[in-house]
Amino acid sequence: MDSTKLRAAAKSAPESGATTGVHVRAATSADLGQVIAIDAAVTGIEKVDYWYELFHRYGTRTLKQRFFLVAEDNSEILGFIIGEVRDWEFGSPPCGWVFGLNVKPSVRLGGLGTLLLETICDGFRRAGVDKVRTLLARDNGLVMSFFRSQGLMAAPVIALERNL
Ligand SMILES: CC(C)(COP(=O)(O)OP(=O)(O)OC[C@H]1O[C@@H](n2cnc3c(N)ncnc32)[C@H](O)[C@@H]1OP(=O)(O)O)[C@@H](O)C(=O)NCCC(=O)NCCS
Repeated sequence: MDSTKLRAAAKSAPESGATTGVHVRAATSADLGQVIAIDAAVTGIEKVDYWYELFHRYGTRTLKQRFFLVAEDNSEILGFIIGEVRDWEFGSPPCGWVFGLNVKPSVRLGGLGTLLLETICDGFRRAGVDKVRTLLARDNGLVMSFFRSQGLMAAPVIALERNL
């Protein structure tokens, strides 16, 4: 499916995220090979152990607060999103956090990132929260543009770090 069709499908998508040809669903272990390949193509690092561990924690959905979703078209994984509801982290009321999002470069700008984000936000709403947050690298203009286009604004928290 090309970007134009994806965009049209995403815009007409019902809230479930199911679209003609593109289906957003929970990841299974059989998807991991394609997920790892997308991540490796984008980041240049193949992190097999990391992804199996992440799937163990988020993909099996032992808690209804954790989400590892993939967008699939004819058995081809086109993108994924990972997040969870975190309760009272640093005193904040429970809210949804997105901490992994990737769309295959060949199908970007077709609405797939929007579809993935909307689908995980539906899951967060069902889990009872009314806010979504994410963290991104300060110099990642692409991801910043995407999240701003989805209505996310600067949060009333800041990240701190030091060398160990
Ligand atoms: C960010 C990303 C998920 C967007 O996916 P996508 O399927 O292209 O997103 P959409 O088509 O739904 O785009 C929605 C909006 O985001 C913004 N956007 C997306 N790509 C953009 C770009 N290259 N430049 C500027 N704005 C962009 C636009 O406002 C766009 O709306 P428009 O097409 O009507 O202008 C995708 O580019 C990606 O996977 N990037 C790499 C992410 C990454 O670095 N992940 C690792 C860290 S978690």
